[in-house]
Amino acid sequence: MKTIVTFGTFDVFHIGHLNILERARSLGDRLVVGLSSDEFSWRKKGRYPVFSEGERIRLLEALRCVDVVFLEHSLEEKRRYLLEQEADVLVMGDDWQGKFDEFQDICDVVYLPRTPSISTTAVIEKIRL
Ligand code: CTP
Repeated sequence: MKTIVTFGTFDVFHIGHLNILERARSLGDRLVVGLSSDEFSWRKKGRYPVFSEGERIRLLEALRCVDVVFLEHSLEEKRRYLLEQEADVLVMGDDWQGKFDEFQDICDVVYLPRTPSISTTAVIEKIRL
């Protein structure tokens, strides 16, 4: 059983999110998503997500490619999360290229190319205009 772990806010769910989750899942047998809590997202991005953590959890859990969702409360706890989930592979989008190489001692670290021309921020801006 090969466990893939990935992290993110996944707010205003879009095709870039689905692409990375499906690609991550295809690398193993089980996909675990560490979902940024509302507070953690605020600290990271300087705004609260449009959809609450409870809503974002339900949306991710409803996807065929996602097996388990847990809340990520801080960057500092990433090593503990990976160990607890028994991660074989950590998958991140290549906007994080190199940033998680420190975990190569406990799992493989893979950066997948982002889907071009879409992000939560871009969707919010488009709706606003
Ligand atoms: N992601 C992706 N392709 C995109 C957008 C996001 O592969 N076009 C990936 C990110 O690299 C990350 C995951 O999806 O691994 C969750 O990203 P998140 O930060 O929640 O989404 P963004 O759309 O990047 O949000 P924001 O605009 O708020 O930064």
